[in-house]
Amino acid sequence: MDLTTTYLGLTLRNPVVASASPMTQDVDGVRRLVDAGVSAVVLPSLFEEQVRREEVSDTMLQEVHEGSFGEARNYFPDSPTTSLGGVRAHLSLVERAVQASEVPVIASLNGSSRGGWTEIATALAGAGAAAIELNIYAVPGDTYTSGAEVEKRHLDIVASVCSAVSVPVSVKLSPFFSATGALAQAIVNAGAQGLVLFNRFVQPDIDPVRIAVVPNVHLSSRTESRVPMTWIAILRNQIRTSFAGTTGVEEPEDVAAYLLAGADVVMTASALLRHGPQHATHLVTGLEGWLAEHGYDSVNAVKGLLSVGRHQDAEGYERTGYVAALRKARQTYGSLT
Ligand SMILES: Cc1cc2nc3c(=O)[nH]c(=O)nc-3n(C[C@H](O)[C@H](O)[C@H](O)COP(=O)(O)O)c2cc1C
Repeated sequence: MDLTTTYLGLTLRNPVVASASPMTQDVDGVRRLVDAGVSAVVLPSLFEEQVRREEVSDTMLQEVHEGSFGEARNYFPDSPTTSLGGVRAHLSLVERAVQASEVPVIASLNGSSRGGWTEIATALAGAGAAAIELNIYAVPGDTYTSGAEVEKRHLDIVASVCSAVSVPVSVKLSPFFSATGALAQAIVNAGAQGLVLFNRFVQPDIDPVRIAVVPNVHLSSRTESRVPMTWIAILRNQIRTSFAGTTGVEEPEDVAAYLLAGADVVMTASALLRHGPQHATHLVTGLEGWLAEHGYDSVNAVKGLLSVGRHQDAEGYERTGYVAALRKARQTYGSLT
């Protein structure tokens, strides 16, 4: 059985990639995932805020030393994200993960503003990252930033990073754009070699007992894969790029479904956090079993089998699915009302 797949120009031994999460935050975690069979690892994001804090701290320290008040160093908090060395520690993680792993290590950068990405992307590539995943987490909470401005910001960031590094760059996109297809195409035109669909937003919860806003990260469920899967199916034959499906990969059948939609790889975080790194073995061997059971001899043979054809009407595909789903819901639940 040939499980190999190509993603961002990298040949991977199978399509199961460990997505950015606490599972990949240290070398031990990376090692265990690789031993369990993942074909690549995305490290947790280096956040723009981390980089900025370090820059500010560096400048302040320099000024402090110039004024001979070295003891002021004590005022800096010790938290790993705010102390000097947060970024350096991250670069060291990239280096050590690359050394410890025989599969590609992808570094992730998470930010929303235009400046300062190129140097850090270059440093990540220099530390040995096989690719850079840009997670452009921009949620304009004001009432005046237009969609066009948000999109322009994405394209500027992508273009600047892509022109600075020689490793491939992918973009983890938000599902909340009015014209996802056009933006995805523009991002590829700006130099990205892959799209990771989609970013999953961390939405704070409201606790009505304590009457408080509670920051919370919920693990995903399988049904959440439908939005990214639909978009991969729609875009697969329209945009020449690599596709990673992320969200809701819990069982080998979910891997198969994403491949049928047209994904080159799936990225999984919640299932690995829920079941442990060895769950990757279950996903890979289960996929192999699924392929054999359905008479296929390779991953490439199933990729995109259920994607929207190049000359098919994607809007029609969406509406047909929508109308059929509503009709089915009426049949199923209509009698209950
Ligand atoms: C606890 C946790 C931490 C995460 N950290 C990151 C991160 O640092 N960068 C990133 O791009 N995505 C991060 N993600 C998102 C995952 O990489 C993934 O895209 C998302 O959870 C959807 O996949 P899943 O359904 O398999 O969880 C995180 C997810 C979880 C649950």
